[in-house]
Amino acid sequence: MTSPKADPFESLVSLLRRMPKAELHMHIEGSLEPELIFALAQRNGVALPYAGVEQLRSAYAFTNLQSFLDIYYAGASVLLKEQDFYDMAWAYLLRAQADNVLHTEMFFDPQTHTARGVGMDVVINGLHRACVDAQTQLGINASLILCFLRHLSEQEAFETLEQALPYRDKFIGVGLDSSEVGHPPEKFAKVFARCRELGFHLVAHAGEEGPPAYVWTALDVLKVQRIDHGVQSTKDALLMQRLAQDRIALTVCPLSNLKLCVFPRLADHNLGALLDAGLVATVNSDDPAYFGGYINENFTQTFAATGLTAQHAYQLACNSFEASFADASAKRAYRDRVDAAFAF
Ligand code: ADE
Ligand code: ZN
Repeated sequence: MTSPKADPFESLVSLLRRMPKAELHMHIEGSLEPELIFALAQRNGVALPYAGVEQLRSAYAFTNLQSFLDIYYAGASVLLKEQDFYDMAWAYLLRAQADNVLHTEMFFDPQTHTARGVGMDVVINGLHRACVDAQTQLGINASLILCFLRHLSEQEAFETLEQALPYRDKFIGVGLDSSEVGHPPEKFAKVFARCRELGFHLVAHAGEEGPPAYVWTALDVLKVQRIDHGVQSTKDALLMQRLAQDRIALTVCPLSNLKLCVFPRLADHNLGALLDAGLVATVNSDDPAYFGGYINENFTQTFAATGLTAQHAYQLACNSFEASFADASAKRAYRDRVDAAFAF
């Protein structure tokens, strides 16, 4: 009797799921599932303008970045206490473990919370405690990157930095997120220069909806080490050369790009083109509770739609650790684990 032939795509899916990976672009507030939003609303006595989980989920039909951000900031309004921030981060970290994420650098948006009167200590201590527990209980190396909201002023970013500095040992870097078009990176030149002096890692969202010019100024004015999204870079050949030459990583989020209509279909996504041009592209989930999937879902749906191969999977796993802010010896150990997963 002959054994049934293994389906090659099923083997690729299994490889994508089990391969060790780092996640470098995940907004922790974007991991708040509707069930947790409602549970926290009840716990904290917060009224929501939705009848229930299903009605909230059915509102997740976005036409662009801003249509998503409006609902994302509303969802975050249920977070009031340190334990809420811990519970949110822990729920994500359990999902990350199930997806074989060994290392995650999570974004958080403190201004969304401090504007509602929640203390910076409440936000950072809750998230950081989950990071500590992730290491000891899940074997995941988890750290935090504080994002400034670019629709607010640079002065407000400076005030946020000032409030966060007493907790500087609890986050490793700063980033820039929220509404991109009309808020170019150079608006935050001074605060990023200060964060650089302070020794923080620097990243910024650029080229998600905004033009390649924003990627250039994120690199040349803000001096960031990675670009979040950056998918508009393929429109500028010189920029593509620069990103490849300097090995500047792009933290790409395919399901986010699909849900926010950056690409009409996943089959049109340029992840393959970025990899084939020699860029250090990575796959990430951005706001998984809103965009239909965590990191492994991003991998499997994108590979199914675009025809990427096991060679691409290996490259993406290696890229994720290379682009991380882990130290050199941790990167070598991660790389050995990737090689072991692909040794067959
Ligand atoms: N905040 C959360 N998700 C974001 C995204 N995709 N772009 C900009 N800001 C965000
Ligand atoms: Zn993002």
